Amino acid sequence: MIQRPRGTRDLFPPETRLWQAVEQAAREVFGAFGAEEIRTPMFEATELFVRSVGETTDIVHKEMYTFPDRKERSLTLRPEGTAGVARAWIENRLGDRSQPLRLYYIGPMFRYERMQRGRYRQFSQIGLEVLGADTPLSDAELILAMHEFFRRLGFTDLIIHLNNLGDPDDRPRYQEALRAAFAPRRSELCSDCQRRLEENPLRILDCKVPSCQVVAADAPAMDDVAADASRGHVAEVERQLGRLGVPTVRNRRLVRGLDYYVRTVFEVVSPQLGANTVLCGGGRYDRLIADLGGPVLPGTGFAIGEDRLVEVLPDQFRQAVLARPRLYLVPLGAAAEERALELARDWVRGGVPIEVEVSGRSLKAALKRADREGFRAVAILGEDELRRGEIAMRDLTAGTQAALAPAGVPEWWRGLVATPAD
Ligand code: HAM
Repeated sequence: MIQRPRGTRDLFPPETRLWQAVEQAAREVFGAFGAEEIRTPMFEATELFVRSVGETTDIVHKEMYTFPDRKERSLTLRPEGTAGVARAWIENRLGDRSQPLRLYYIGPMFRYERMQRGRYRQFSQIGLEVLGADTPLSDAELILAMHEFFRRLGFTDLIIHLNNLGDPDDRPRYQEALRAAFAPRRSELCSDCQRRLEENPLRILDCKVPSCQVVAADAPAMDDVAADASRGHVAEVERQLGRLGVPTVRNRRLVRGLDYYVRTVFEVVSPQLGANTVLCGGGRYDRLIADLGGPVLPGTGFAIGEDRLVEVLPDQFRQAVLARPRLYLVPLGAAAEERALELARDWVRGGVPIEVEVSGRSLKAALKRADREGFRAVAILGEDELRRGEIAMRDLTAGTQAALAPAGVPEWWRGLVATPAD
C-alpha cells in the first residue's frame, strides 16, 4: 500500500464543504474591502525565499523543499505567499496600476516541519497583501478586514497580539540592547539561541524552549529603543483599531519568524489551540520589494493557516455548512427509472440540490438511507405516481407527505428550506 507522504493530508467530504465555505467567506469579505485574487506559482527560484524570508530564519535554514530541476536550477516549493506576490508585482509591472493594490490568495504552502497537531508539511494559507500604502490607516484597514473575516465565521474569542518591530535604523540598536540583556545569561539559553545571540538575537524572543522563554520574558521591547516614527506608527494603528472595536494586545516578544517585517507585526491566537498555535500572522514589509530589486514600495499583509482555522471553526458556522439540505429522488421500478434523470435535470435547473437513487434500492431501504444520510426530503416515484403524473414528496423533518406535479417541486423545495428545520 502506498501511503501519502508524512505531513500531508487528504481532505474529503464533508470536511471539504467547510473548506469551501471558509474560502467563499474570504473571497466575499476581502473582495468587499477592494481586494482581488492573485495566483502565483507553487515553486519559485530558491533565491527568492533566501532573500525575502531571510537566511537566518528557521524556514530558510531547515524547512524548505529545495530541489534542482533537470537543468540544475535550484527551485523551492513556496513556504509562504508574500515573496511570490512581491516578485510578481515587480516582474509584471503591477506598479503601473493605481496603488495601493489589494491582493488575496488561497493555496498550498510547503514547509518541512516536525509533525504536530495543526502543523503540516503541506498546508493552505489564505493571505491578503496591500501593496503601495505606508500609512497606519492601511495597517488598520488590513487588520479590520481580517477581523471582519473571522467575525463572519462566528469567532468571538480570538486574541490579536501586536508589536512594533521598528524600522531598519532601529534594528541594530535593538539587537545591541538584546545582546546586552542576554549575554550574562548565555548559559541558560538553548544551543540554537546561543548561536542566535550572534546572528540574530531577535529570534531568541521567539524560541519555544522553556528556559529561553524565561530569559526572553525580561528582554527589553523594541519600543524602548525605537525612534519616534515607528513607535508613533504602531500606536496609531492601535488607536484606530481600538476605535473600531477590534481588540488588540501588546506583545513585546512578538517578532515573527520571517525577516522582512518592519513596524507593525501581529498574530492571531485562538484560546482553543493553545498558546503556541497561531491562526494568522502578518505585518508591514516596507523594504521587501526594494530588497528584491524593485522600487521602494511599502506593503502590509497577513496569512491565515486554513488547516488550523477549519479545526477551530465555531460550532454554529460548522453546523450551518454541514447541514446542507438535499432532496433524494427514489424511482421504484423500470418505468420510473426511465423518468428519474429527466426529473433530476429539470429540478437541478430549478435550483434543487438532488441525489438520485441509482442502485435500485427498495422504498424501505431508501427511506432508511435517507434518514441515516440526513436528507431533508424524499421524492418517491412509484407506478401509481407515474400513472397520475405526480410525485410523492415526503418532508422528513415534519413527517408529512404531499402529491405534487413535477413542475411544482422547485417551489415546494424553496418553501421547505426557507423554514428552519427546527
Ligand atoms: P507565517 O506566520 O509563517 O507567516 O504563517 C502564517 C500562518 O500560516 C500561521 O499563523 C499558521 O496559521 C499557518 N502555518 C504556518 N506554518 C504552518 C504549518 N506547518 N502547518 C499549518 N499551518 C501553518 C507567513 O507565511 C507570512 N507570509 C504572512 C504575511 C503575509 N506577512 C505579510 N503578508
